[in-house]
Amino acid sequence: MNQDELKQAVARAALDYVVEGKIVGVGTGSTARLFIDALAEIKDRIAGAVASSEDTRRRLEGHGIRVFDLNDVAELPVYIDGADEINAEMHMIKGGGGALTREKIVAAVAQKFICIVDGSKYVEVMGKFPLPVEVIPMARAHVARELTRLGGTPVLRAGFITDNGNLILDVKGLQILDPVDLETRINQIVGVVSNGLFARRPADVCLLGTDSGVCTLTGD
Ligand code: 5RP
Repeated sequence: MNQDELKQAVARAALDYVVEGKIVGVGTGSTARLFIDALAEIKDRIAGAVASSEDTRRRLEGHGIRVFDLNDVAELPVYIDGADEINAEMHMIKGGGGALTREKIVAAVAQKFICIVDGSKYVEVMGKFPLPVEVIPMARAHVARELTRLGGTPVLRAGFITDNGNLILDVKGLQILDPVDLETRINQIVGVVSNGLFARRPADVCLLGTDSGVCTLTGD
C-alpha cells in the first residue's frame, strides 16, 4: 500500500472510536481530511464536531456536519488527529499544517486522543521532523534566539500566518530525548504561544497504518 492508502485505512479505522450521538473533535492535515470524508458517511449518527482549524471547519461544513464552538461544548469524548511523528510513549510532534495551538486546545478538552498515522511517522527518537513553534510576531527574533540556546536551528515558515494571526518557527536539528521537559521549556519562552510537542498530553491510542494492516498501539 502507498502512503495515501495507509492514511485512508487509519482514517476509516478511526470511525470505530466516534461516540454515537456525541460531538467529535477533529484534527487538521491530509489524514484528518480523509477522516472527515469518512465521518461524513455517518454524520447522522453524531451531534456534530469541533474543528481544530479553519481548514477543517470548512471541510466539515462542506459535508453538512454541524461545527460547534469549543466554548459551547461541555463534553468531548474523543479527538481524532494525525501527527508528524509519534513514539512508543504516544508523544507526538504536530503542527506540520500549522494548526498546533488549536489542536492542542481541543486535545486538552477531549477525554481520549486517537492519533491516526501511516507507519512512516512512527519513530524511536523524535526530532527529525522540524518542531513547529507558534510565536507572537513581535517576539519572533527573541524566541528564535532562545530556541537556538536550546540547541535547535529555528527557521521562519515563509509566507505562513496561523489561524490565530501568528508566525511559525520550524526548529531543525533537535534530538528530543525528553519530550515532556522540552515541551515545558519551550512553553516558558516569552512570546511562544505553543509548541508542536504533544508529550504532556500524549495520545491515548495510535492507529498505525502498515502493510500488514492497521495496528492499534497504546502507551501502556
Ligand atoms: C497539522 C498537524 C497534522 O496532524 C500533521 O502535520 C500531520 O499531517 P498529515 O496527516 O498531512 O501527514 O499537526 O497541524
